[in-house]
Amino acid sequence: MPASISVIGTGYLGATHAACMAELGHDVIAYDVDATKIAALADGVLPFFEPGLEELLRRHTASGRLRFTTSVAELAERADVHFICVGTPQRADGLAADTSHVEAALLALVPHLTRSSLVVGKSTVPVGTAARLNQLAQESAAPGVTVEVAWNPEFLREGHAVRDTLAPDRVVLGVSSPEAEKVLRFVYDSFVVDEVPVLVTDLATAELVKSAANAFLATKITFANVMAELCDATGADVVTLADALGFDQRIGRRFLGAGIGFGGGCLPKDVRALMASAGELGVDNLFGFLREVDAANTRRRHVVVEAAVAQCGGTLVGARVACLGAAFKPGTDDVRDSPALDVAARLQHLGAHPVVYDPKANGTGARAFPALTFVDTVDEAVQGADLVMLLTEWPELVALDPRGLLNRVGSPRILDGRNALDPESWRNAGWIYQACGRP
Ligand code: UGA
Repeated sequence: MPASISVIGTGYLGATHAACMAELGHDVIAYDVDATKIAALADGVLPFFEPGLEELLRRHTASGRLRFTTSVAELAERADVHFICVGTPQRADGLAADTSHVEAALLALVPHLTRSSLVVGKSTVPVGTAARLNQLAQESAAPGVTVEVAWNPEFLREGHAVRDTLAPDRVVLGVSSPEAEKVLRFVYDSFVVDEVPVLVTDLATAELVKSAANAFLATKITFANVMAELCDATGADVVTLADALGFDQRIGRRFLGAGIGFGGGCLPKDVRALMASAGELGVDNLFGFLREVDAANTRRRHVVVEAAVAQCGGTLVGARVACLGAAFKPGTDDVRDSPALDVAARLQHLGAHPVVYDPKANGTGARAFPALTFVDTVDEAVQGADLVMLLTEWPELVALDPRGLLNRVGSPRILDGRNALDPESWRNAGWIYQACGRP
């Protein structure tokens, strides 16, 4: 028997969760305050790029298992398990996460509930939020209606969201009662059958697992980037170093990619939110440690821009720079806190004329940085360039033919901001090739 599920918030997380829960066989109704977005989703049109997701959306809007609404009352009427998937961006006035959307979602829903329900948070929140929301739920529920708040953090990566949701590495269930655990095990029944590890925890641990996972990944990337700085100072090669470290089973090669650093809507703000929690809770050592990670990550953008200045003979004034990539990573059109666009904007600030090309993120990029020039092809981007920079390692950019580009550019200089190109083939083709932490 399927569960009746509602999903509140239809961004990358919510839209993916809703479509994947329908794929698992459940009846799903998804809600957003943005009526235009809801209308598009109901028509099977995904308002952002995520591989494989539009297909699922179409399949289940057609099967009738996935519906969309702008009415919270309808969620309360139709569903028994309500997933909160709204954003928790960095607050405008500091490092902490803004949990106001999560609170607003809960407070909008709970008064409409007429039968016992489970509200499940999936958003990334500061530790302590779930307990506070549970208290708010008790205060705003109608008399006689039992509402429990559970926390079930999401670990999906953009660009792999469908796969990560349908075949996760683990499922974390932060619950306060055996009933809540039972309901969530039922929702994720097919995972349990597939022997995905399920960890049942208290609310605070569930919240912290997610924050800690993202902070650890950010730290791992930053470690590679700091080693890249040491490699630059000594003539060693950070890629070979990372390969060698990665063979150690305890370390692993993934997330040791040095370059212009991490970005996106999650890692940077989650590191800062955890820093803010540590500060509020008086855990100063963690605060200082994460501040270093954040600062070292931002420094990468500066270091790469300095390398561009040096490549262009000491000044960027008037230099035409082809910026290949705008998304914060390949496989997405998301440009939130994108290191690629930050670098392009810094180049422009120093007097260069950056020309940006991204296979999927030109539209989102131009909306976020209207002063930058975006073009539709690699050829247009590199035409007459004094310097080419690889800023997002899309497969089609990594596969570019160095010989083919040679007679389009003004000067055959390339700065590989992602250590993703093969230095030999670029050098053999006649380019001056420079990477991050590589001789
Ligand atoms: C991240 C986490 O990986 C997910 O597990 C988590 O669910 C998600 O945040 C979230 O909190 O919602 P995501 O933001 O999609 O996922 O991106 P990642 O694949 O983690 O990449 C983050 C950034 O690190 C990108 O800018 C990427 O280019 C950079 N990166 C990654 C490196 O600079 N080097 C590497 O070796 C790996």
